[in-house]
Amino acid sequence: MNQKKIAGEKAAEYIKDGMVVGLGTGSTARYMVDKVGEMVKNGLKIQGVPTSKATEEQARSLGIPLLDINDVDHIDLDIDGVDEIDGDFNATKGGGGALFREKVVASLAKEVIWIMDESKLVDKLGAFPLPIEILPYGYQIVFKKMEEYGFNPKMRMKDGELFVTDNGNYIVDLHLGVPADIEDVKAKVNGIVGVLETGQFLKMCKRIIVGTDEGVKVIEAK
Ligand code: 5RP
Repeated sequence: MNQKKIAGEKAAEYIKDGMVVGLGTGSTARYMVDKVGEMVKNGLKIQGVPTSKATEEQARSLGIPLLDINDVDHIDLDIDGVDEIDGDFNATKGGGGALFREKVVASLAKEVIWIMDESKLVDKLGAFPLPIEILPYGYQIVFKKMEEYGFNPKMRMKDGELFVTDNGNYIVDLHLGVPADIEDVKAKVNGIVGVLETGQFLKMCKRIIVGTDEGVKVIEAK
């Protein structure tokens, strides 16, 4: 069973006519966007707000009407993937490097659904490196500060060069280990000048949709 596909397609069922919908990024969200494209072709009327250039391109190719982020006054529902999530719905996102736009869109949404395969469910966060988007200006100073805090930072690379986000910035991945002290990391990282946003998406959703080999599970917040 394709766990990501069934989770993505199930989530699309929550989209109703007239909604403004946040369209997530990554391989699971891709299945959801494909499904939304199909629904739009069959007459669904929505406006999408993409969370990355890749999703924007996919959505355009499928004929999904899109809103520029600056024209958004609300988002009814945001559907996006996660890299790790604990039992309290604290999630790590940004494996694909889209965390800033993903957080902007999620923070504007009345309702958020995270979609995933079973491997994303964990007892404690920390095994998946926490992505942090940082500005290029003075990035080595930011990096050193994270080293001083003992957060085991690694600059994200692509093809031998520093990875550059859709916003023209860099990503530092914090190899925290399990269990990560999420409140301590939050306070310290958000206090460093030069950090744009973190991949901590803490208790932002009401429900998650998990693809399993036994079928799809919808789990509501405690
Ligand atoms: C991108 C993300 C993705 O949602 C996350 O990495 C999950 O990806 P996938 O669905 O491919 O496992 O946060 O920045």
